[in-house]
Amino acid sequence: MKMYDPIRIGMIGAGHIAGSHAACWQNEAVITAVCSRQRSKAEQLARKFDIPVVCDDIPSLLNRDDVDAVGITTPPHLHHPIAMQAMQAGKHVFCEKPLALTGEEARQMVELAEKTGVKTGVQSGMRHFKSLRHLQQIIKQGALGQIFSFHGAWSFDWAKDPKFPLTWRFKRDEAGTGVLGDLGVYLIDVARWLLCEINSVWGDMNICIAQRPPLVEYHHFGELRRQHQAGMLKTSHDRVDVENEDVCHLLLRFENGVSGTIRSSRLHVEHEIKIEGERASYLWHLKPDQLLCRKAGETDYSSVTIPDTYSEESMVTHFLYNIRQNKNEPPTFFDGLKAQLLMDAVVQSDRDRCWVDV
Ligand SMILES: NC(=O)c1ccc[n+]([C@@H]2O[C@H](COP(=O)([O-])OP(=O)(O)OC[C@H]3O[C@@H](n4cnc5c(N)ncnc54)[C@H](OP(=O)(O)O)[C@@H]3O)[C@@H](O)[C@H]2O)c1
Repeated sequence: MKMYDPIRIGMIGAGHIAGSHAACWQNEAVITAVCSRQRSKAEQLARKFDIPVVCDDIPSLLNRDDVDAVGITTPPHLHHPIAMQAMQAGKHVFCEKPLALTGEEARQMVELAEKTGVKTGVQSGMRHFKSLRHLQQIIKQGALGQIFSFHGAWSFDWAKDPKFPLTWRFKRDEAGTGVLGDLGVYLIDVARWLLCEINSVWGDMNICIAQRPPLVEYHHFGELRRQHQAGMLKTSHDRVDVENEDVCHLLLRFENGVSGTIRSSRLHVEHEIKIEGERASYLWHLKPDQLLCRKAGETDYSSVTIPDTYSEESMVTHFLYNIRQNKNEPPTFFDGLKAQLLMDAVVQSDRDRCWVDV
């Protein structure tokens, strides 16, 4: 087996989330090259993170012998074509969520990974949180008794101002679904991970703000939000149609018979997970400090102390471990595929107004 020490990363995409990726890669691997659509943006990231090489395009990055694995942080419509090229070039691939635009694309990605033998990883958002890893252990040990229900909410209000411009996130051909693929996908992943596979879904997707001003000046997401909040963003009086949902509600039926709900919105803030069981119920909040609480019987919820036995993990830890140890531990592209198939079912359910089996 090829030995990797350290694993050398090529980053594709240098936008808003790329900085968080670079910080993780820097801690646990080494970044050898970066490319983006505009070279100047890749150069900015390279300066900040001491990345030695800026490539002009994706093929140049994929041709490099000093790149063992690539990290993709482009908009979703580019995940499939870039990942396919990277795997064909023999590179391991870590990809942002949602893995692809459709289940069919995601299936092709899984199949090519199997054929080429490269390792894959998908950004799953919450699996590395210590409090949720602890909750997963508690559930595995059967401490809840029979589980009655799952509820997850994951929402941020970045789009609540109707004057926020229409970026790629609001377009079907670039983002696919709206808040479902952007935020709901985290809860789909965490629900599967904490409980088990989801068998069927009923989905309702709603566009609440039907039109927005077109984008006058392109910036990365974080910079757009900063300039918008500061009133510095150039705007237009025109309006264009929003193409995907601001809010989604999902009713779930898990393979073990448990029922559940998921809600995501880009118009309000809400982050919680609640699992109700026969012997105890658990409630998790992102703030303050990823608080995990437990309740048994009629008592109120009280906070749970997380043992200090959990090691630090980042979004890329499992991916790098899989490369080093020649393993395929989740989350891999397979988990991205499972989430994508569920999201396809949500779209169908919303269109046909019925339950859809996954
Ligand atoms: N995990 C999280 O918490 C989280 C948060 C936000 C986003 N995301 C995910 O991360 C991905 C990117 O989101 P973002 O907010 O970082 O977007 P963003 O700020 O708009 O950045 C997109 C990046 O993709 C690059 N790009 C666009 N078209 C390209 C092309 N044809 N070839 C090469 N690069 C291209 C852009 O190039 P330039 O640099 O040249 O402009 C930019 O670097 C999405 O899948 C999103 O869902 C995850």
